Amino acid sequence: MRRRILSSMAIALLATACTSRMLLTSEGRTYSRNVQPVTSDQRCKDCHSLKDKNKKAPADIGTYSTDKIYFNDIRAMLDDPKYAKDLFTAEEIQDIIDWNAAGRPDDSRTF
Ligand code: HEC
Repeated sequence: MRRRILSSMAIALLATACTSRMLLTSEGRTYSRNVQPVTSDQRCKDCHSLKDKNKKAPADIGTYSTDKIYFNDIRAMLDDPKYAKDLFTAEEIQDIIDWNAAGRPDDSRTF
């Protein structure tokens, strides 16, 4: 019995360690560091903001939950030369692609 409790504690500890490692460091790309600074930036908010009714675009973006919902559209923009060159630097594009490949880790709630 005691042994079972100890081993389940070890598993829980291991799971926590793995999860937080995945959330914070996967490939060094994190939501707060590599995605949010772009999607919450004025260059997107010029058109995307529900706070301003005069904005042209339908979606509010710039938080993990919104960007997760709209990620496929963001991904399509990165591939579209019409948007990609004007709105993102080459480094930002690569960072967002890498963040996606790492499983879109959400570190935004730890800040
Ligand atoms: C010049 C205005 C403008 C800017 C700047 C702009 N967008 Fe958009 N965006 C739009 C419009 C308009 C749509 C809706 C297009 C449609 O429905 O066909 C859209 C659509 C989207 C969508 C799909 C969800 C939706 O609202 O339909 C996402 C996600 C998105 N944009 C992300 C971004 C990001 C990220 C940036 C900044 C890097 C950005 N946009 C900058 C105008 C803009």
